[in-house]
Amino acid sequence: MYAAARALLFALPPETAHNVTLAGLRVASQLRLLRAPAELPGTPVQVMGLTFPNRVGLAAGLDKDGICLNAWGGLGFGFVEVGTVTPRPQPGNPKPRLFRLPQAQAIINRMGFNNAGVDALAERLGHHRFPGRIGVNIGKNADTPLEQALSDYQTGMRAVYALADYIAVNISSPNTPGLRTLQGADHLSPLLAGLCAERQALQEQHGRYVPLAVKLAPDLSEAEIEACAKAITATDLDAVIATNTTLDRTAVIGLRYAEEAGGLSGAPLREKSTEFIRHLRSALPDRVSLIGVGGISSAEDAKERIEAGADLVQVYTGLVYRGPGLIRDLVGV
Ligand SMILES: Cc1cc2nc3c(=O)[nH]c(=O)nc-3n(C[C@H](O)[C@H](O)[C@H](O)COP(=O)(O)O)c2cc1C
Repeated sequence: MYAAARALLFALPPETAHNVTLAGLRVASQLRLLRAPAELPGTPVQVMGLTFPNRVGLAAGLDKDGICLNAWGGLGFGFVEVGTVTPRPQPGNPKPRLFRLPQAQAIINRMGFNNAGVDALAERLGHHRFPGRIGVNIGKNADTPLEQALSDYQTGMRAVYALADYIAVNISSPNTPGLRTLQGADHLSPLLAGLCAERQALQEQHGRYVPLAVKLAPDLSEAEIEACAKAITATDLDAVIATNTTLDRTAVIGLRYAEEAGGLSGAPLREKSTEFIRHLRSALPDRVSLIGVGGISSAEDAKERIEAGADLVQVYTGLVYRGPGLIRDLVGV
């Protein structure tokens, strides 16, 4: 069934197909054609001190503004990461900014955090019927100087603290100039300290502890991964999400669109993301949970990621190529 839908969607430009899909899911859930079952499929797991109905989540970037929250439960997701949202709404990069590489089961995107802003998302998070866990992925506006990045993240935290099950801090998108430099040891330690201090203040204000995660890029060297792990270990951070998209084009050389600027996701990222998780797991204490994402497109891939150390997994590009059947397969792992 998805094969037919996919043929139609792939006949459209990628961003149009994306918008049509989200609109369709939204209508289906409004008409109650797509409803979350009384109990989500799979086996509940405890991660970051929370119970997740199953280990399978929607990765950030697909439902940035949380417009389809009521639909995701009907597809079986145990958790959804909305965002990346920024303090102020922004249009993102000029189009075209999304490219399919079907021969490699991959996508290249340079969306650039197009989003309606964190307040619009907070409004939606106030009333939805998704029965799983919701993570909110926050970023900085493109025109915020890098030295003021912490302030943008703190604004995001304050706006969603009462509504999110966990908050993910995105410092690894390749499409916001300079963002990835925040992963460097000089920037990371003060940034994480500032985020944890903000969380402490919000915890006291709201009487509620919300786990904090940081999302990293797969293009870090082994030494850089070690340095990040050291900085993370020195804080009260709860989790790491690994990985974001890659700038490496080795696996797609010669394919149409391979030279487009942006981040590459999907099958070519699988091995790199798995190795990244394996490395992180050995470098971090057990109290820091790991969310594995990047190139997962089968039950075997998910199993491999969990064996490498992931407590939860997320999908984006695999969903585009395999459709909702993928979620059912992954939940069974
Ligand atoms: C079109 C597109 C937009 C994305 N936007 C975001 C984003 O806003 N924030 C983020 O943290 N990751 C974003 N990502 C990265 C995904 O969340 C994920 O980390 C990456 O695609 C690897 O997983 P995959 O191979 O399953 O797609 C985006 C990915 C794609 C393909």
